[in-house]
Amino acid sequence: MKNISLLLVFTMLFTFVACGEKTEKKEEKKIKLEKKEPEAEVKKDTDTELIALGKKLFKDKTCTTCHLVDSKVIGPSIKDINKIYAEQNADIVAFLKDELEPIVDTNPGQVAIMKANLDGFVKDLNDKELQAIKAYMLSVN
Ligand code: HEC
Repeated sequence: MKNISLLLVFTMLFTFVACGEKTEKKEEKKIKLEKKEPEAEVKKDTDTELIALGKKLFKDKTCTTCHLVDSKVIGPSIKDINKIYAEQNADIVAFLKDELEPIVDTNPGQVAIMKANLDGFVKDLNDKELQAIKAYMLSVN
């Protein structure tokens, strides 16, 4: 009888400890999850900021004169550019830095118009500005 009660006590003790560990682990997980969220928020905020800057630059730097969101005017629409850049896994910033041949419209007359911009004023934009323009263009769906 004594042995049985001892066994019972041990079993209870063990269950108790095991349960305790589980709750601890759960707590740890919770903390990790909670920690992750603010980081994601910050990233979202920087994205929104970058897109806003890009949108402003796209207008101020006259890109809007030749590139509309949906339809072709002088240059291809932003949506057409996005589609082809996604298909070919190409980088808009690389094109704007004149490190990538045109892939959207390769008609020499058209290429010359855009090339004049690259050589004229796009070359004076810094990396952050170019990243912002790209972020804005990609945000257009
Ligand atoms: C005077 C008109 C004009 C302006 C201003 C202009 N573009 Fe263009 N853009 C074009 C034409 C035309 C093409 C088509 C030729 C080509 O694809 O290279 C083009 C093509 C592009 C392409 C696709 C390149 C490819 O791979 O074929 C991108 C990206 C682009 N422009 C971004 C911009 C940005 C960003 C600005 C502003 C900083 C801008 N453009 C200003 C006329 C213009």
